[in-house]
Amino acid sequence: MATLAVELRNINKYFPLVVANDDVTFLVQKGEIHALVGENGAGKSTLVNILYGLLRPDSGTIAVNGQPAEFASPGDAIDHGIGMVHQHFMLIPPLTVAENVVLGREPTKFGFIDINLANKTVRDLSEKYGLKVDPKAKVETLSVGIEQRIEIIKVLYRGAEILILDEPTAVLVPQEVDELFEILRSLKDQGKTIIFITHKLQEVMAISDRVTVMRRGKVVDTVATDETSRQEIATMMVGRQVLFRVERKDAQPGEEVLRIEDLHALDNKQLPALRGISFSVREREILGIAGVEGNGQTELVEVLTGLRKAEKGMVKLDGLVVTNFNARSVKEKGIGHIPEDRHRRGLILDYTVAQNSVLGIHYRIPYVKRRGLDVINFGPIKKKAERLIQEFDIRPPDQKNLAGNLSGGNQQKVIVAREFDQDPKCLVAAQPTRGIDVGSIEFIHERLLQARDAGKAVLLISADLEEILSISDRIAVIYEGKIVGIMNPDEASEASLGLMMTGAY
Ligand SMILES: Nc1ncnc2c1ncn2[C@@H]1O[C@H](COP(=O)(O)OP(=O)(O)OP(=O)(O)O)[C@@H](O)[C@H]1O
Ligand SMILES: [Mg+2]
Repeated sequence: MATLAVELRNINKYFPLVVANDDVTFLVQKGEIHALVGENGAGKSTLVNILYGLLRPDSGTIAVNGQPAEFASPGDAIDHGIGMVHQHFMLIPPLTVAENVVLGREPTKFGFIDINLANKTVRDLSEKYGLKVDPKAKVETLSVGIEQRIEIIKVLYRGAEILILDEPTAVLVPQEVDELFEILRSLKDQGKTIIFITHKLQEVMAISDRVTVMRRGKVVDTVATDETSRQEIATMMVGRQVLFRVERKDAQPGEEVLRIEDLHALDNKQLPALRGISFSVREREILGIAGVEGNGQTELVEVLTGLRKAEKGMVKLDGLVVTNFNARSVKEKGIGHIPEDRHRRGLILDYTVAQNSVLGIHYRIPYVKRRGLDVINFGPIKKKAERLIQEFDIRPPDQKNLAGNLSGGNQQKVIVAREFDQDPKCLVAAQPTRGIDVGSIEFIHERLLQARDAGKAVLLISADLEEILSISDRIAVIYEGKIVGIMNPDEASEASLGLMMTGAY
């Protein structure tokens, strides 16, 4: 019989509005990669946060390697060989990789930090697990994928035998996902135990040995990955069949709504990010922009939504030139925006769901009694929030809940609901389903198609090729700040798009 590295038994965790973990028993074998999946708000993060000592369970027991354990803080969990790789990286940019890794636990020599030893330790760990990280590089120069590896090294440096990764691939491009999986395999080969949370079921199939499915706070089942399928896991997750492909009619595009001509813009480092972009989106059409992240998508969205200055070129909305209008004016003219970074641009976490549901339009009637007079009208805001909660199945269904208390996927739903509801002429949707469960992805895709059929122009920016292929009417590929091709979805495949996206066409 395989030995158990982690035993969480009969765990209950109550929050004021929900039972986040309802008699959960979660058993992880030593040396396996164990995937944990479930709908948004199912209780996955809560469960692993309990294991890492970030949350205390209301009842239930924890054992590590057969020994009962109790964690009052992450420090206790670390002492038991448990490590968590955070999704929002907590690295200090001006420091080097090695300085970040040893931070708080620096090796010393005669009372001074022994930086040579720190460098060597990081180099050894990096080589042992195939992490390919240079200990002396400054963190600020590194990509997200490398930052994540540094978080992994940090956890290993603190002696972790059991690694928890909560949606590690949400921030990675496909190439980086493959590299992460190689690292996870090599960690497993050397005896480490891995708990891996994801919404992408193909990742579950590709990397895990076993998978546990949660729904509404409970464990549905734990199964061996090679004895199940993506379809079966999805059905366990949401309690019904999931199609993975939306039914859709062909587009009937009408007048041009958004026109972009020869757009140029700089990135945060003042280097060219957009180098002459031109395209248009018509009403009743979804134009998908495919590309590896970092090829100008972020800057494009920011220019379109008034958050970044165009150096050159033109943006036209419904015949009106709106180049370099500020964010509020652009919104007034009819551009809706689902931002890619929900924490920075999409929500205010310590505001309620109701307040967030009018963010950016709070100054309009009926949310104020008279325009220009900022007396807030709470009644209509509450009513609107309640309607959106219903329509978009935001859980828990309470408009007074703080956005920061929602699960990641439900936070995303609040943003999506708000932006759809403003009835924009043109909707700019950047990574609209990132962190969203399969059932809700289906729902958001249906809503995007409905918006299209209701006459809107939709610009979809996504790193997810499956998403691009399944709902776009035309696909533009962006590479190094230029559009390198525009095609119909029936002429495109994941393989051909993938090649174009890397500049090989
Ligand atoms: N600090 C908190 N205060 C109140 N409620 C909370 C808190 N943290 C989580 N919850 C609630 O507990 C439930 C489970 O949340 P959890 O974050 O564990 O879900 P999840 O499965 O990780 O979802 P996702 O896939 O969206 O990340 C949700 O209903 C959430 O709103
Ligand atoms: Mg979560």
